[in-house]
Amino acid sequence: MNAEPCTYVIFGATGNLSRIKLMPALYHLDVAKQLPEGTRIVAIGRRPWDQQKWLAEVRDMIQAKVKDDFDETAFQNFSQRLCYHRTDIQQPEDYKALAELLNGKQQFPRNIAFYLSISPADFGTVLEQLSHSELFDEEFGWRRVIIEKPFGYDLDSAQALQKRISHYLSEEQIYRIDHYLGKGMVQNVLVFRFANVMLEPLWNRNYIDHVQITHSEEIGIDSRGDYYNGAGALRDMLQSHLLQLLTLVAMEPPVSMEAEALRDEKVKVLKSIRPIPKEAVHAHAHRGQYAAGTIKGEKVKGYLQEEDIPAGSVTETYASMKLYIDNWRWRGVPFYMRTGKRMAKAQSTISICFRHPPLQFFRDTNVNCMNPNWVLLGIQPEECIKMEMTVKEPGLEMSTRSTTLDASFRNHDEKAIDAYEDLLLDVLKGDRSLFLRFDEVEHAWRIVDPILQTWAVERDFIATYPAGSWGPEDSRLFDKDNQTWRSSLTPECK
Ligand code: BG6
Repeated sequence: MNAEPCTYVIFGATGNLSRIKLMPALYHLDVAKQLPEGTRIVAIGRRPWDQQKWLAEVRDMIQAKVKDDFDETAFQNFSQRLCYHRTDIQQPEDYKALAELLNGKQQFPRNIAFYLSISPADFGTVLEQLSHSELFDEEFGWRRVIIEKPFGYDLDSAQALQKRISHYLSEEQIYRIDHYLGKGMVQNVLVFRFANVMLEPLWNRNYIDHVQITHSEEIGIDSRGDYYNGAGALRDMLQSHLLQLLTLVAMEPPVSMEAEALRDEKVKVLKSIRPIPKEAVHAHAHRGQYAAGTIKGEKVKGYLQEEDIPAGSVTETYASMKLYIDNWRWRGVPFYMRTGKRMAKAQSTISICFRHPPLQFFRDTNVNCMNPNWVLLGIQPEECIKMEMTVKEPGLEMSTRSTTLDASFRNHDEKAIDAYEDLLLDVLKGDRSLFLRFDEVEHAWRIVDPILQTWAVERDFIATYPAGSWGPEDSRLFDKDNQTWRSSLTPECK
């Protein structure tokens, strides 16, 4: 698919996401000569800035990201593409001015991608106004809208939002972004599974004991208290990014890598997840909130002391859950997922634990490390694929140890590409395979809704964990005594 020149119109261009992700990603794409000739970037913001001020801001954003690699000539070239347009998104007349700008004499390509990096509460208004200003008419070029998560607050609100959006846009025009799908290693999960035959015959309930998906962060909530306190870890990470990872690990091979085929298979996984009845929520999910503690030797505040957090808040900053996929391949295999802020280490990993061999041949020897085989998929910061095997230790004794086969795919001189770069380019190509279809979002909400509803009424108590730890004690999630959270990518001998 070819990327076509377009005008990227970014709502919320002065906000955090745009600063740390979108503008640097567009800059990198430009430097890598991936942005089609003539592509322009219109920043929509409320502040009364002029072009000069905007360019100075973007320079800061890029410099903060690339640091010593800043290249003045590359930045000057990039700045030719930039334009700042002051807009109050609540004011209908401001959209008329925007339409005049985009349709006017200045050379803005007629293909337009609108990026909504704004509060979900404003999605409806912005779409309505863009539609009234005829900015979604596709007579002279395509019109696409990129929507950031959260897509709704729960199942009902997601359905209501979808109803409103579909009033103005067709499904083909909507790009629901989950930036995890743009991460190199996440895409590699599909290649690893479907471009190799070695593991696929073992990738099922006959050989796999359980699967763990962990996303832990050292950072707290920074200045996002307002948003985060209304969301919590289950909505912020689990309903979206972690469930997406689960679908990629668990899905059947799609009939092709075409967007609809891929998304059909992901939806089938979500639909096969056993619903959690309200009375079983406590057995399937756990929550916690960070208290003061130490991260990298520095004392940090507890969640309740963070900016904009109301006293007594029971919003979870840690959430874990257990799911079962009731299909032929996975019936009975638990999938454990956890995510948390202010944890001991920042990392995202998928750890697949295989069953023990059917016979313990070495029971009467010195073999003291009969660990199961693991496949470890490191998503970040280390991108890796590792397989743990048991081998004999050199020497006269019959004893063993675990060793790792490392199939990591990035050489030292190959730089990682930020997820947003890939996804922003896919929008220009019209490739929606790494974007979410509404039924994916809907089914993901269905899975977590019973937990959200239970937690919403249980407002008296939340377990806490010290910042810098691995979260609250939640071992009751595990089905067997020998199942515990795996936090490392190197062999853990038990
Ligand atoms: C975002 C969440 O979607 O993902 C954040 O809102 C979280 O709370 C972030 O920190 C994690 O993304 P990444 O790419 O840093 O792992």
